[in-house]
Amino acid sequence: MNWYQSSHLPSTGLKRRDVLRGAGILTGLAIASQLPRRLVAQPAFSGYPFSLGVASGNPLPNSVVLWTRLAPNPLSGGGMPAYNVPVQWQVAADANMRRVVKSGTEVAVPEFAHSVHVDVRGLQPGQTYWYQFKAGNEVSPIGRTRTAPARGERLDRLRFALANCQDWQNGYYTAYKHLAEEDLDLVVHVGDYIYEYGPQPGGPRQHNGPEIFSLEDYRNRHALYKTDANLQAAHAAFPWVVIWDDHEVENNYASGISEVDGEPDQDPAVFLRRRAAAYQAYYEHMPLRKSSLPYGADLRLYRRLTYGDLAQFNVLDTRQYRSDQPCGDELKPLCDAALDPNATLTGKAQERWLFQGLQQSSAQWNILAQQVMFSQFDFDARPGVQLFNMDQWDGYVAARNRILTFLEQQKVSNPIVLAGDIHSSWVHDIKRDFNKPGSPTLGTEFVATSITSDFPTQFIAPVTAALSNNPHTKFFNGALRGYLRCALNRKRWRSDYRVVSTIAAPQATISTLASFVVENGQPGAQRA
Ligand SMILES: [Fe+2]
Repeated sequence: MNWYQSSHLPSTGLKRRDVLRGAGILTGLAIASQLPRRLVAQPAFSGYPFSLGVASGNPLPNSVVLWTRLAPNPLSGGGMPAYNVPVQWQVAADANMRRVVKSGTEVAVPEFAHSVHVDVRGLQPGQTYWYQFKAGNEVSPIGRTRTAPARGERLDRLRFALANCQDWQNGYYTAYKHLAEEDLDLVVHVGDYIYEYGPQPGGPRQHNGPEIFSLEDYRNRHALYKTDANLQAAHAAFPWVVIWDDHEVENNYASGISEVDGEPDQDPAVFLRRRAAAYQAYYEHMPLRKSSLPYGADLRLYRRLTYGDLAQFNVLDTRQYRSDQPCGDELKPLCDAALDPNATLTGKAQERWLFQGLQQSSAQWNILAQQVMFSQFDFDARPGVQLFNMDQWDGYVAARNRILTFLEQQKVSNPIVLAGDIHSSWVHDIKRDFNKPGSPTLGTEFVATSITSDFPTQFIAPVTAALSNNPHTKFFNGALRGYLRCALNRKRWRSDYRVVSTIAAPQATISTLASFVVENGQPGAQRA
C-alpha cells in the first residue's frame, strides 16, 4: 500500500493482544496499572500529527530504529488526547514506497508523549531503505535510512558526518540543510541537541519559555527544536547515532550533581528528578532502541556500532557517570584532584566496557565518539602558566592516562577520537605525554564545531595565541559554525571541516574550511 499517493484508508486490524504488546514497553516504568487504556484506531487530530518529522537511528546489519511522535500541537504538550493510538509503519526498498519489505503497527502511548520507536528487524545489510508512518488518516513524510554492513564484511568505504551543539537561539540550522544533501552512511550527534535556557532576547530565534525543569518543559523544548525543517531534513536523510552532552539536562552537570548556580535543583534529590524528566524526554524524541528506555533517572546510552571490518564506533556517555569536576568548572590551573584515579568521566563500568570493546575489535579504525575535548590544551599563552578546561578530559587526567596507556599497550588499530562541546573546530595529535612533544603519537582527535552554538569572539585571539604552547594541536577555528564530514577507506581517514557562511540568516552557503587526513597505521593528522 502506497500511503503517500493513496486516499484509501486501510483498517488497522489491530487486536487486543497487539495493544498489550505495544504497552509492554511500559513495564520498566511500572505504570502497567494504567492499562488497559482505550485504544482509538481512527483518531481525529487537531492538527497534522507528524509535525516533528521522522527519524531513524542505530543501524545494525539487519535492523534500524524508526522514530516519530504524534504531536498535532507540538509546542504545548503535543496536543494528543490521553489515549493510545496505533501507528502503522512501512519500510520499502524504493523512495516511492512501492516495494514494501516490512510493515507493522506500534502503539503510541501518552506516557511516552505518543512517541514511536520501531526496531525493524530482518533487513538486508548495507542497504538503503525508505520508511513512512500512518496514524488515523494522516501519513508522515518519507524518511530514508541505511543499515550497517554485515559483521566482519570487508568494507572499502564509509562516510559520516559529526554534528553537535545546536542552540536554537543562536542561529539557523542551515548547516543541516547542507548536511542533508551530503552523501553519507550515517550522522553521529555528540550532544547539546537542545539547550535548557530561558529566552535570550537579541538572537534570531527565541526559546519557547523559561529555563526547563519538568517533563512537560523538556518535551516542549525538544518539540521546538524538532519543528525546524532543516533538522527534520537531516533526520529524514540518514540514520543518526545520538548521544547527549550536558545541555540535554543542564549546563556542566555531572552525574547527579547540578551546576552551581543557585537554582532550586541544588539538592541532589531534586536534581535527579530533573534529570529523570530530561532523560525521558530525550528518549521520547530520539531514534533509540528500547534497550535505552529510561529507568527513573538512569538511561543506558553508551553503545557500540560496527561497520564491517572498517570501523567501530564506541559511543561514550561522559555526563551520566562522571564524578564532579575535580578542580571545579571553567579554565583553571591543574589541581591535584584531577590526578585522583577515582575522578572519572565514564564511570568504571563504561571504562571496562570500552577497553573490552577495543581489545576485541577487529576494525581498522577504532572511533571514540564522545562529547568533550580529549586532548590536552593549555589555554594560557604565557610560558610557565597553564590553564585547562576542567569540564573536559583535562580535568580528569588520571582517567585519560588510563586510556592512553591502554591504546599504547594494546596497540589499538588507528584510534580516532571525535568530540564536540566546545563550539569550535580543532585537530589534535593524541600524545602519549602531551607535555613532551617528542613522545609517541597514539591517535588523532577531530573536534567538530557547533551547528549554531556560540564561541565568544573574544576567546579566539587568546586561544590562537596559545597554539604555540600546544604543538600537538594542528588546527583551531572559533569563528565558523558547521559540521565535520568524515570519509574513510582502507588507506586513509579524511575529515573535512564543513562550515556555513552565516547562521544569522536562513540562507547560507557551505564550504570546506580545512581538510585533514590520517594515513592507515600512522597516527596523527596531516593537512590534506
Ligand atoms: Fe554546546
